[in-house]
Amino acid sequence: MHITVVGTGYVGLVAGAGLADFGMHVICVDKIKEKIDILNSGEIPFYEPGLKELVDRNVANKRLSFSTDLKSAVEQSLAIFIAVGTPADERGRADLSAVEELAHDLARIVNDYKVIVTKSTVPVGTNRWIKSIIDKEKKNPVEIDIVSNPEFLREGSAVEDFMRPNRVVLGSDSQRALAIVKDIYRPLYLIETPFVITGLETAEMIKYASNAFLATKISFINEIANLCEAVGADVHQVAKAMGLDRRIGPKFLHPGPGFGGSCFPKDTLALAQLGRDYNSPIRIVETVIEVNNSQKERMVEKIIDLLDGNVKDKTIALLGLSFKPNTSDIREAPSITIVKSLLDKGAKIKAYDPVAMDEFKKLFPETQIQYCEDAYSTAEGSDIVVIVTEWNEFRNLDLKRIKEVVNTPILADLRNVYDPIKVKNLGFKYTCVGRVVKEIH
Ligand code: UDX
Repeated sequence: MHITVVGTGYVGLVAGAGLADFGMHVICVDKIKEKIDILNSGEIPFYEPGLKELVDRNVANKRLSFSTDLKSAVEQSLAIFIAVGTPADERGRADLSAVEELAHDLARIVNDYKVIVTKSTVPVGTNRWIKSIIDKEKKNPVEIDIVSNPEFLREGSAVEDFMRPNRVVLGSDSQRALAIVKDIYRPLYLIETPFVITGLETAEMIKYASNAFLATKISFINEIANLCEAVGADVHQVAKAMGLDRRIGPKFLHPGPGFGGSCFPKDTLALAQLGRDYNSPIRIVETVIEVNNSQKERMVEKIIDLLDGNVKDKTIALLGLSFKPNTSDIREAPSITIVKSLLDKGAKIKAYDPVAMDEFKKLFPETQIQYCEDAYSTAEGSDIVVIVTEWNEFRNLDLKRIKEVVNTPILADLRNVYDPIKVKNLGFKYTCVGRVVKEIH
């Protein structure tokens, strides 16, 4: 079967390469010629573990190609996957302009029966709207069907998540379209992946509800962590014991500097906005958004407190800039809030990230931040070392070596990577999230 995937971001490229691996013939289309040129030259425009191998393998066996020519790709394909961006606009609504433009383009192009499969995260009602645009404007009197197929992949493990998802959600009014998409995903049936077949609106809602719930778990544990600090409790033990209750589960109860990335911040805003639009407010999610913003700010306060209230002209060493490990993505990363605020207060910033520095330089050029080549050179001469993202290479730092090169031995461990007592015994002033350093007698 021939498939077109429109949009070569994380979702589109992983889905395109994954579907090619399932045996489909896939053309990935993007309007941005530079992106297609990069892909055609054998490079991947962002860092995602395992993706290059997957792309290379399927390009080599001629099941995967890249093009800017939407018309030619669509004409050859039975299914068209929509994976274009839907960023939040200034009010938090999903900006559907790329989806809308694509619907108009598809209306001009469709020459035969096509199944349109929406992977982009879109507000409830969007799939029906896309279909109505194409039906109203189509040049040829052909039938089209639409399927909502939300994507749940996590950056950093996107390939694995695509190949072995927890579930596949397919929403549609058309049995014919559902049969085609099920056929596309047949390899997942073979590994007994649960398929949830629903109507359009339900599938759209499943994506928002899932992401908002995960974001809620994170904000919940972050607030509990803050309270733990106040009352002298240890949030790790609290989270562990909570997670042993099977109704709660252990995942997404790790406290930290607040969630970032391309999904949670945008999807929580969009769901809250959807609730307001339908006069059915989702107050929990509105609060989650507020809690998350203040958690990021709170990290700045922690740093300032450790420096006795004054960061002006202090040198701050930041380890990790991406919103989480194993990705070069810095969208909505806590590091951005931290850097902005510290620069405003007159601090000097040194920073290192294994893969996200090029992205970060687009926001904060080398005139504003001194970028370094590893954790130790970043720590050199600094007044405080801050672990912002828990990359593996920061989990086992030689803290004695760090202590020798810093100006003052202070560590802010915003991901709770280290044992507070051990770090304190090495002579560091230390803070983390939700754990008070207590000596045991
Ligand atoms: C998320 C969803 O997991 C995925 O299903 C959806 O399709 C897209 O959004 P992703 O943004 O790649 O994926 O990252 P994820 O691993 O979920 O982490 C999101 C953020 O939450 C990160 O900033 C991470 O550091 C933070 N987080 C996660 C916590 O602070 N604590 C946790 O316990 C888990």
